[in-house]
Amino acid sequence: MSGKPSHPPRGDAQRAGLDSRRYAVTLASAVLDQGVFLDDAMSARAEQRSKLAPRDRAFAHAVLLALFRGLGRIDAEIDARLSKPLPENATRVRNILRIAAAEMVFLETPAYAAVDAAVRMAKRSDPRFSGLVNAISRRLGEAAADIRTKPTVTAAWFEKALVSDWGAETAARIQEAHQQQPPIDLSLRAEETAAALAQELDAEALPTGGLRLRSSGAVTALPGFEEGAWWVQDAAAALPAKILVETTAPRAKVLDLCAAPGGKTLQLAAGGAEVTALDVSDKRLARLRENLKRTGLRADIRSEDALSWAPSTLFDAVLLDAPCSASGTVRRHPELPWIKSLAGLRDLVTLQDNLLDAAWRMLRPGGVLVYCTCSLFKAEGEDRAAAFLDRTDDARTRRIAADRFGVPEAICDGGWLRLTPALWTDRGGMDGFFVARFEKQASTA
Ligand SMILES: C[S@@+](CC[C@H](N)C(=O)[O-])C[C@H]1O[C@@H](n2cnc3c(N)ncnc32)[C@H](O)[C@@H]1O
Repeated sequence: MSGKPSHPPRGDAQRAGLDSRRYAVTLASAVLDQGVFLDDAMSARAEQRSKLAPRDRAFAHAVLLALFRGLGRIDAEIDARLSKPLPENATRVRNILRIAAAEMVFLETPAYAAVDAAVRMAKRSDPRFSGLVNAISRRLGEAAADIRTKPTVTAAWFEKALVSDWGAETAARIQEAHQQQPPIDLSLRAEETAAALAQELDAEALPTGGLRLRSSGAVTALPGFEEGAWWVQDAAAALPAKILVETTAPRAKVLDLCAAPGGKTLQLAAGGAEVTALDVSDKRLARLRENLKRTGLRADIRSEDALSWAPSTLFDAVLLDAPCSASGTVRRHPELPWIKSLAGLRDLVTLQDNLLDAAWRMLRPGGVLVYCTCSLFKAEGEDRAAAFLDRTDDARTRRIAADRFGVPEAICDGGWLRLTPALWTDRGGMDGFFVARFEKQASTA
């Protein structure tokens, strides 16, 4: 793998002020030194963000995405130019160098602008290192074109996990896709509006029923947003609810068991189901409420722990979009491999098994359960589905017709769906997802 990552609108490096670069360095520290996701780090600094012009915010965001996609390479290039390692506590200095390097290598910012900004930031935060920042960032600038063509280096644990599950060749294709800025996909409240909206929004109509925008930018300004005619949802993330809805009768009683922030709840409600949307997080349920309000769709919202909740009647269908590593969303969250590890996976897998068993208890005989995770790891997908079938006598797989959704190659041995960012490469890819559908056998007793 080599080449430069693609980026969202980059703002204008020449005009980007020192404030936007300081903001980028602060966010890089929050993410890489404190292990916070970029979106959360931005939310926590809403005030600082609000003081920046939209152009400067866009610039900082673009630099950070480029940095996380290229971090392995950038750190190696910085280290190769240091005569001795930076002190452990010089994290801000390293982040200043990282931001300058990401600008010059991936956004092609002229070296004079990036170096000048880096030196000014170093003088302010730790003047002892301003000479070093000057020298190293200049040398990085001289080599920027060369560094741009070097192979991508990702976090070792992540690479190992991908190769172990999918082999070196597929892992390389997935990693290549992780270098690209993903397109924006929309799910529609009424799929009959697809052709008209595609024209109005300059979008491609997808075989999954949604739209893919041909350009990027602020979606809230686009036609149909205010009226709730659509919501943003990756094409892969749109499939589990579609796969469930195609098996249920109109007005079926459907439980969305891990529902917030609610992309799939909206799809189920738009598909005509009577939806109960349950989640343990009040904060995330608030977003679900906002989404329902905007789209005018309805669901009965429950703030409950799925593991202990006991419904008064059983459901015709259950959707379980279980908490997981989110390793299928690295295109959108390129920091993930750098701030996560396999350490938490064992607990997640236990939770996924327990949630599957809880979901099954809430399903009526003859009903359908769809289990999904936005993970690339078999441990959270294929292995969970197989273990569930092993321990659940009345469960049968109901095979998914993958060709109907334009992903015929995604069907896997169990009759389940395995989506990865290496699919649809000519169209702009899709997130990684696993989807299995089970039917509860009617009792023969
Ligand atoms: C992958 S997200 C769900 C995304 C959602 N289905 C959507 O499409 O927008 C997983 C959700 O599971 C919730 N969750 C985690 N443990 C839970 C539990 N024990 N009971 C209910 N919800 C839980 C989290 O709060 C989180 O919102």
